Amino acid sequence: MCGIIGYVGQATSSRPLEVARQALARLQYRGYDSAGIVVANQEGLSFVKRAGKLSALEEALAESPLPAASAAIGHTRWATHGGPTDQNAHPHLSQDGSVAVVHNGILENHQALRDELVEAGVEFQSQTDTEVAAHLLARAYQELGDLPDAMRATARRLEGAFTLLAVAQDNPHLVVGARRTSPLVVGLGEGENFLGSDVAAFVACTDQALELGQDQVVTITPDAVAVTDFGGNAIEPRRFTIDWDASAAVKGGFETFMDKEIHDQPDAVRDTLLGRMTPSGQMQLDELRVDEALLRSVDKIVVIACGTAAYAGHVAKYAIEHWCRIPVEVELAHEFRYRDPVVTAKTLVVAISQSGETMDTIMAIRHAREQGAKVVAVVNTMGSTIARESDAALYTHAGPEVAVASTKAFLAQITATYLLGLYLGQLRGTMFPDEIRAILSELEKMPDRIRQVIEGEDVIRQLAVQMKDATSVLFLGRHVGYPVAMEGALKLKELAYIHAEGFAAGELKHGPIALIDEGQPVFVVVPSPRGRDILHDKVLSNIQEVRARGARTLVVAEEGDNAVREFAEQIFWVPQAPTLLAPLVAVVPLQIFACALASAKGLDVDQPRNLAKSVTVE
Ligand code: M6R
Repeated sequence: MCGIIGYVGQATSSRPLEVARQALARLQYRGYDSAGIVVANQEGLSFVKRAGKLSALEEALAESPLPAASAAIGHTRWATHGGPTDQNAHPHLSQDGSVAVVHNGILENHQALRDELVEAGVEFQSQTDTEVAAHLLARAYQELGDLPDAMRATARRLEGAFTLLAVAQDNPHLVVGARRTSPLVVGLGEGENFLGSDVAAFVACTDQALELGQDQVVTITPDAVAVTDFGGNAIEPRRFTIDWDASAAVKGGFETFMDKEIHDQPDAVRDTLLGRMTPSGQMQLDELRVDEALLRSVDKIVVIACGTAAYAGHVAKYAIEHWCRIPVEVELAHEFRYRDPVVTAKTLVVAISQSGETMDTIMAIRHAREQGAKVVAVVNTMGSTIARESDAALYTHAGPEVAVASTKAFLAQITATYLLGLYLGQLRGTMFPDEIRAILSELEKMPDRIRQVIEGEDVIRQLAVQMKDATSVLFLGRHVGYPVAMEGALKLKELAYIHAEGFAAGELKHGPIALIDEGQPVFVVVPSPRGRDILHDKVLSNIQEVRARGARTLVVAEEGDNAVREFAEQIFWVPQAPTLLAPLVAVVPLQIFACALASAKGLDVDQPRNLAKSVTVE
């Protein structure tokens, strides 16, 4: 969690402050408990920091503006050690004021270091783990006289996950960063350079970037970037071009980012499909740099992910097993990591992540690779840790997703895993070429179908407003409708703070049906009647079962499915689509519902309480 930005330029101007402010606005999804900026000029360091959302920092800056400068570092916080107060907000300065730092991650040995520093006479100003780094860095700087050397010496003393950025009072043309496990990327400008938690921090200023690896220290000046390991050995980082459109990270006339990102979904799916098929209808996944012989010999796929990304994995399981006849397990990354999973060189691990920085998923990837498995990442953020640490990255092209609640990334993840499944089906010969072509052609129709659902959003929004005082909502689904139900429940929990649960409809009679009482709202995701009859009929029976016990049934059904009419209090029609592809349309009404209900309750849709977009701590 936490978003950080570093900037250095040639001139002394307001640009460092502006770059930092804009970057923090784009990084706010990483945490919004407090924010702060420190700028460096010939006079030294000046900073402002405030608890609360960025608006609190903006108000403080309006009252006491920061001076023109040549460098700046900034931070938006998701609190771990120490509450969300002004004192605990970053930057943290050393006792002598010689250096300022911002930090993302958790310093696991902070207490021992704090005790040592207190013993040496340091007076702490905050309850954070970060502050030890400021004092250690200042001491090392005093001793070594060189900020990058001091950063390396400090980094060697720290345990845990960290990205640290620092500026020094006596060198306003230098920003130094260190990274272990937490993310950091470099943006390359002309006469200016940037450091950011992810490329969203500086994509408005440059599309050229450098990846940084584990245990590296980076020094940026206006004209140069130098990277070393913690021992001081020079490293040549990989350069890449960011293909995100910077304008995608603004609301573009919508009230919230989430609204906008829901409307971006047809494009996210279309862009993820682009270029994956040859003119002759053959699947091509150029990025899949895993040996084809190995992909043919894989005997199990394990999908690891968290939250919404894990639900995309559940959808993938149904499709990949059906198309490729390979067993697919889906596991929450944190459970996978600390179990003792059976993973061999014949296991293909598919890690799904929007941010590419989810720590639970990173740790699970490392664990899987240590066991000899190959890891393919389905990831949205270029240059992210997950993309870098996996054997291959299959990028989703959803563009920047800013709202904490994932929407377009989810649809793009599902799309990418379909592509992976079709590719494996082609490679392993479990599918006929014409079958693959038929599915691809259906996939190409999905953006229009999603658009159609979005165009009908008013009915869903009206229902959401009527239901704003609901205290519990249940979601039922079978087969691919089951992960859709779980995703619908997750959206409602995280956005509207309403108790919500998603169940496999068949599980109802094994306990959850006891929750049904007069008026209990139950969303039911109905499979296509054109798919397996048995699936459709079973879900209709489930609707009747809850209805008989007083439930208010709100049904997502395929256009033309007249059989549902008599059992549903309200129906949200979605266009016809093949059963396995239907989650791409079925989930959209549930996203719109949660978003509209949260807005009707007056809640902050883009930044729900207690959450951050990238969960970069375990
Ligand atoms: O960046 P990732 O896709 O790895 O994030 C995984 C989850 O933290 C994320 O999907 C989370 O569940 C969202 N808030 C859901 O809307």
